[in-house]
Formats: sequence, structure tokens, C-alpha cells
Amino acid sequence: MEVVIVPDARSGGELIAEAMAQLLRRKPDALLGVATGSTPLPVYEALAEAVRSGAVDASRARIAQLDEYVGLPADHPESYRSVLRREVLEPLGVGMDAFMGPDGTAEDVQGACRAYDSALAEAGGVDLQLLGIGTDGHIGFNEPCSSLASRTRIKTLTQQTRVDNARFFDGDIEQVPHHVITQGIGTILEARHLVLLATGEGKADAVAATVEGPVAAVCPASALQLHPHATVVVDEAAASKLKLADYFRHTYANKPDWQGI
Ligand code: PGA
Repeated sequence: MEVVIVPDARSGGELIAEAMAQLLRRKPDALLGVATGSTPLPVYEALAEAVRSGAVDASRARIAQLDEYVGLPADHPESYRSVLRREVLEPLGVGMDAFMGPDGTAEDVQGACRAYDSALAEAGGVDLQLLGIGTDGHIGFNEPCSSLASRTRIKTLTQQTRVDNARFFDGDIEQVPHHVITQGIGTILEARHLVLLATGEGKADAVAATVEGPVAAVCPASALQLHPHATVVVDEAAASKLKLADYFRHTYANKPDWQGI
């Protein structure tokens, strides 16, 4: 696992956007797995800036969704499909025809989950999957004690995650759906390169458990230890509980092995 400690969220965003840009230069139709939440926003801003300045062409990129609320209409402003259209596709100039995501409004939710796993495989698999991390160590919406081999499926959110996400619903937890579709941990591990970004002190415990704890379902992100190419980008605050922080600084600062995709 590469652990890259950066001074702040903005530099983390720039570093990961550069990794995505390098990937798109090598493979213009790469399938980028994207995440929602506040943490990835600096990545999308930096990548959109690279597109605007002509440093990279994202017009042939394909975008895959990590998770989705169940029951929110696709055009609801907080459905993850809407969020990603707003924050990723439109700024990059990528059309919805290049977007893949699970159908959170399907009558047969389990069928929709299986269909999404198949669609990802048929598309050739995700080249680079960007991940955030929950304060409880979740990735996607794989809450603690999710099977490390899980596939895309319906999950019930923990109360903590609904509290964390209420800020996107006018602070009203009652509006936060209880159920979601999420790529499973086994699905996520099939991406060729996993890049997890964590910023802020609130993520420090989850980051320490992910990087230095045992591989354990109680911290779903610790499954990254099983992946041959996982990169964890953290700011100083999120790195503050890492015992090996000095080693990581010495080994990986600004020279992660982005070429191993
Ligand atoms: P956040 O969410 O980036 O808004 O903190 C991360 C997550 O829940 O995966």
C-alpha cells in the first residue's frame, strides 16, 4: 500500500487528478470509478482545471458510480447520479452516455445490483477507483462488518452515516434514505488501481485502522491491504494517528507509483 501524506486537501486533490490525467493520456477511454461526499471535490476541481487548460482530454473518459441511495428519484438533486452529473461529468465535458451507475429506483433492487456488477465487468472493469472513507471506516456504503468478498447489493445505513450525510438534506436526518445500493468490497477490489483520499482529523482513526490495523470487516477500508495497487492519500490531520507516518513521508512523498495501473 502506498501512503502519501500531503500538506492539505487541495494538494491531495491535485495529486490524484494528475494520476487520473496520466491514466487518460495512456488510455483515453479509461473507466474512472468516482465517489461522492465532500472529500473528493478537490480532485474533481483539479481535473476539471486540467481539462480547461488543455493539459488533458477527458472527452472519451467513462465514469462509473460507486453507490446510490435507494428510492430517491434519479433527478433528485441529492441522488448520487445528480451529484456526479453536477460535480464530475459536466465540469469534465463527459456526457451521460458515458456514465454507468446502479438503478436506485428499480422495482427489483437485487436484480439491479447484479446487473450493475455485470455491466462493470462487461465494460472491462474499473481502471482507477477513487474512494473516500467514512468515520467508521466504510468505503462506498459498505458499513462495518460488510463481507470483504461482498458484491454490489442493498445495504442499510448506520445511524452514524445518516447523521454524517444529513448536511446534504438541509440538516434533516429524516430525509436521508435508510437504504443504498453499493458496490461490494469484492467488487471494489476488482478495480485495477484503488485511490483512497482522506482529509481532516475526523478521519484519523479510520485511516490508522485502514493502514496499520488488521484486515478486518469491522473496518471495511482495511480490505485495501489485500489489493496489489492501493494508494492512500492523506493530509497531515488525517495522518495524525499513523505510527509509521515518518516512514511513509520518507518513502512515498510525491513519488507514488502511479505507473503501476
Ligand atoms: P465525506 O464522506 O467525504 O463527505 O467525508 C466520505 C464517505 O462517507 O465515504
